[in-house]
Amino acid sequence: MNTEPEDSNPSPHPHLAEVIDASRRSALRHGVALAAAGWAAPLAAAATPSLIGFKPVPVSRADTVSVPEGYTTQVIAPWGDPVGLAGAMPAFRWDAGNSADEQAAQLGMHHDGLHFFSLDGSRSGLLVMNHEYVDPDLLFPDGRAGWNAEKVRKSQAAHGVSVIEVREQGGRWDVVRPSRHARRITASTPMAVGGPAAGHPLLRTAADPKGERILGTFNNCASGITPWGTYLTCEENFIGYFQPPPEPDAHQRRWGLRAGEQAWLGWHLHDERFDAGRHPNEPNRFGWVVEIDPFDPASTPVKRTALGRAAHEGATTVRTRDGRAVVYMGEDAANEYLYRFVSRDKIQPGGARANATLLDHGTLSVARFDADGRGRWLPLVHGQGPLTAANGFADQGEVLVKARQASDLLGATKMDRPEWTAVDHDGWVYSTLTNHSRRGTEGQPAPDAANPRARNTMGQIIRWKEDGDHDGEAFRWNHFVLAGDPAAERPEARGNIRGDAFGCPDGLWVDGRGVLWVQTDMSSSVMGRGEHAGLGNNAMLAADPASGEVRRFLVGPVGCEITGATGTPDGRTMFINIQHPGEAPGERNDPAQPRRFSNWPDQRPDGRPRSATLVIRRADGGPVGS
Ligand code: FEO
Ligand code: CA
Ligand code: CA
Ligand code: CA
Repeated sequence: MNTEPEDSNPSPHPHLAEVIDASRRSALRHGVALAAAGWAAPLAAAATPSLIGFKPVPVSRADTVSVPEGYTTQVIAPWGDPVGLAGAMPAFRWDAGNSADEQAAQLGMHHDGLHFFSLDGSRSGLLVMNHEYVDPDLLFPDGRAGWNAEKVRKSQAAHGVSVIEVREQGGRWDVVRPSRHARRITASTPMAVGGPAAGHPLLRTAADPKGERILGTFNNCASGITPWGTYLTCEENFIGYFQPPPEPDAHQRRWGLRAGEQAWLGWHLHDERFDAGRHPNEPNRFGWVVEIDPFDPASTPVKRTALGRAAHEGATTVRTRDGRAVVYMGEDAANEYLYRFVSRDKIQPGGARANATLLDHGTLSVARFDADGRGRWLPLVHGQGPLTAANGFADQGEVLVKARQASDLLGATKMDRPEWTAVDHDGWVYSTLTNHSRRGTEGQPAPDAANPRARNTMGQIIRWKEDGDHDGEAFRWNHFVLAGDPAAERPEARGNIRGDAFGCPDGLWVDGRGVLWVQTDMSSSVMGRGEHAGLGNNAMLAADPASGEVRRFLVGPVGCEITGATGTPDGRTMFINIQHPGEAPGERNDPAQPRRFSNWPDQRPDGRPRSATLVIRRADGGPVGS
């Protein structure tokens, strides 16, 4: 299966010469050098002591996890282990022979974003995690052979979100089974809809004529949390699950439905709502941020339409000084955008119930990065600027369902695939722009100040600081780092890292001490090859936001990506996810040879690679990373 994000943004883009001209004019006006565009100028070293205290690990191509001296790792919660539902704890079958019903009681495949919600300080809590997608060639004993309704149901049950209870004893963590908190949310779990697009005609289907009850969530990639204790899961490459109609209309094309292409997993063959020709509004019901109350297993997840529709990656929430919620979000697809939502109302004390509609009212904006190091938030508000009925937006609901088209009209900046966002202790907001290997090629946008490299195979981390309290109209920005390998032949692939080389940043997390953790996702088709040959397997690095220093902390097993990071409040246990070990570097895995590329973590002669959560601690119990 190919999960490369699609590129559906053909709208015109300023040519490089215009950007350089604008930048030169601005530089002359302000009498300053082109600091913002200065990708040759990494951050100056700070005088303060480094936040990072471990000895870096070398690059590796081994089928194992490496961490610095003095650190320990432990694998918990692999795909297929029971989540701990009372009365339903099926053991994993090493031949992948579990049924669809069993899978619905087990952890899903392809672990992604996760968060630790404390139950008792730093010794017990809920781990809530996404399961982004599945590899059908490893999900079943015989792969895709004899594709049928049961296989579709198992595939759907392996998607979504898991809630597990975890507890520490003597430095080791275990999943508590059974647990009254344990829960699976899958591609068929009923969800409510909140915000301006709830009940909108574009969300209505034959099975749901009111457009207010949607079955399931899938392709849940990055995640976030709210200050009131809920989990935000982000629906990313949802479009690939839909079979395109023979002649997609302009809206469908803008969201990636292409005539003649096939849905990735063939769900439509046994679940017809995934046939977009027969159910044209069904794709409009995905691409949302979904809010889940992890402490109430009976609660209904809610799709928050006020946050806009996108191939969502990440939802980082901060609180303004006057108590409103601000959510930063990226859309991971080539030439798509960065978004910010500011709530209308203030956060109330009283947890999830007291804030049940907080994310339903507010203003969504999209970012424009100007060449002078300044930027603006452009509001996606119906009736303002070009977002009118005459331009195809009947109301605010339509603006949100068609957020891409609205952002095109507003002139937002087309980015190099925004993945996660994070906010550091000084209020800088970071976004990983993972790569855009076709930028600057025929039919694609030219490099610009924020996305400065043609054929950007390595990616960069951009950051900005708001003029206001995360709610202003403007900001200043710069590049925290351009990723790359200093040994690369092509100058554009070398980057300007102050420290250890890496490529394709994706996961981001700022821990309690202020360390910026960066996780990489070089695709398995480039890992170990070409410009990425010197970078080894995917890795996690620690960066000091003040000095810009980057140090490699962990390298993952063969074919995996590293994604999702969280920790206990005391900073002494870190949890991350290892996704898709053993992903085939070519087209597909061979169900007859499940251990061909990786057998992590179990290394059993009869086993197969499994995504899993990794627990990382210092052997002496000290704060991780220090
Ligand atoms: Fe699912 Fe954009 O990574
Ligand atoms: Ca990701
Ligand atoms: Ca990625
Ligand atoms: Ca991946």
